[in-house]
Amino acid sequence: MPSSINLLIIGDIIGKAGRRALTSHLASIIDEHNIDFVVGNGENLANGFGTTEATAHEMFDLGVHVLTNGNHCWDQRDFMKVIDEDDRLIRPCNFTEHAPGRGWTLQETASGHGVAVINVIGQVFMSGTWSCPFTAVDHCLQEIPKDVSAIVVDFHAEVTSEKIGMGWHLDGRASVVYGTHTHIPTCDEIIRPKGTAYQSDIGMTGSYQSIIGMKVEGALKKMITRMPSRFECVDRGASIFATIVQINPATRMAKNIKRIHIPPSS
Ligand SMILES: [Fe+2]
Ligand SMILES: [Fe+2]
Repeated sequence: MPSSINLLIIGDIIGKAGRRALTSHLASIIDEHNIDFVVGNGENLANGFGTTEATAHEMFDLGVHVLTNGNHCWDQRDFMKVIDEDDRLIRPCNFTEHAPGRGWTLQETASGHGVAVINVIGQVFMSGTWSCPFTAVDHCLQEIPKDVSAIVVDFHAEVTSEKIGMGWHLDGRASVVYGTHTHIPTCDEIIRPKGTAYQSDIGMTGSYQSIIGMKVEGALKKMITRMPSRFECVDRGASIFATIVQINPATRMAKNIKRIHIPPSS
């Protein structure tokens, strides 16, 4: 058994641009950094809005182990059935009891280490009526077997203070707590005193010549006119922003956290 698990965390993957960038680079990132386990956020995989079975499988075929989700989870109606049947797909654990699918999953690295991944959604400045994310995460931790080698938490939320609070809430109990949803990376990666790695947002894998992955014209028109406007994904020129966390499987705590950036192909 290796003495550490190298986890690659990818944030929101935006449409075709994000999928194309990972198709070009994910295998070499995995090789170069000796990655054991890959988690990505799939809420924008299908042209920016939700996840389809085909786009999820495209990511699994590239080497992604688990896809988390977020407020766009049900944008593609067929996904309700897909998420129910595939335990590599999770949605926020604090959705209502009527939501299909699951809020956490347990998968294995190639060398047999159990990695639990929890997805949870924030309450501040998020449309929707989710239950308390802090209580929901505590329930997940009670359910997760005690002998897993790593616990990974994707907190899909808008506000950095709520995310930072979750990082402290889970310090010493999760291997890593990180944010998704804002589509913009933060440079605050740190290991908390009890050993939990933390970053407020991983940032999107998508085009940064955009407004959080969407074509500027439609998004800006909506801001200026306050009238409905068509949102379209930018479909090429994606940057990959991702974070690598090295975890000690004996303690489940983090040894190192570092950000990586692969700029768009010229
Ligand atoms: Fe997103
Ligand atoms: Fe989101």
